[in-house]
Amino acid sequence: MYRILEKRELTPVTKLFVVEAPLVAAKAMAGQFIIIRVSEAGERIPLTITDFDREKGTVTIVFQEVGKTTKMLGKLGVGDKILDFVGPLGLPAELPEKGHLCLVGGGVGVAPIYPKAKAIKQDRRPVRITSIIGARSADLLILEQEMRSVSDELYVCTDDGSKGFHGFVSQKLKELIDSGAAFDEVIAVGPMPMMRATVETTRPYGLKTWVSLNPIMVDGTGMCGACRVSVGGQTKFCCVDGPMFDGHQVDWTEAMRRNAMYVAEEKIADHQCTCGGGSK
Ligand code: FAD
Ligand code: FES
Ligand code: MG
Repeated sequence: MYRILEKRELTPVTKLFVVEAPLVAAKAMAGQFIIIRVSEAGERIPLTITDFDREKGTVTIVFQEVGKTTKMLGKLGVGDKILDFVGPLGLPAELPEKGHLCLVGGGVGVAPIYPKAKAIKQDRRPVRITSIIGARSADLLILEQEMRSVSDELYVCTDDGSKGFHGFVSQKLKELIDSGAAFDEVIAVGPMPMMRATVETTRPYGLKTWVSLNPIMVDGTGMCGACRVSVGGQTKFCCVDGPMFDGHQVDWTEAMRRNAMYVAEEKIADHQCTCGGGSK
């Protein structure tokens, strides 16, 4: 059992937990994730390792309450325990050794880009980091201060213009490229439509763009096939071959169709959860 040591509400629907998980913390690397289970009869869901402290033996996760399991998780508080907390899973991110990196994070996707920037700065690599973070509105923006502390430049965007640039992160990225920012590569993390838009923005410029895919996962060890994605015409299992892939090679139409496979069942489960019927 994995004890929650700290809980922060980053937005009304986004929570941060610091969890006691020394074995995971000992091996965690930027880009990896864990799979949790909240209750005996509950499903397994993947969440990115946002931060870790090897000395304290803690792992930080940030999650958005979007359905049954994340809402159940959000109800837990300091001192409560998470039943399963398996990881670290997936391949560590391959981060640049030098040059100019643009990190693009949308919504809860800001959480997965933070450890990448932090790892580069901790290693003292000569990499200039420009970060573009965004949310639908100012109240849904997360980790702005944390991102500022690991970025050379930070741009904030909101869809409704309530803070910073009025528009999508991909539009800000295009503006920066067109105004002469010489990025060597881009890493984009967020909802599938946001990553797809970012990839289509950089494609005409031939600018290498990595994405962190978030398909449905079950076992997280390459055995069940749930997380199958097509990249460059080849079948990949996101949990063991990813989660980061060359965004220009991803079959986005297939990936987005597969992610929506269980929407009807998820809605039923969420309704049973929120109306009190079947709390597991
Ligand atoms: P549901 O209503 O069941 O699902 C909402 C949507 O989430 C679905 O339509 C589907 O697209 C996706 N989803 C549902 N079940 C799964 C599943 N078992 N595996 C993956 N996606 C699923 N979310 C965060 O908030 N923070 C993170 O750091 C984060 N990191 C992720 C890292 C990876 C490698 C992956 C694959 C996903 C990550 N996600 C993260 C997404 C998160 O796993 C889903 O939001 C969560 O599973 C939703 O579960 P639910 O029951 O609350 O909602
Ligand atoms: Fe089962 Fe990847 S989650 S193969
Ligand atoms: Mg679910």
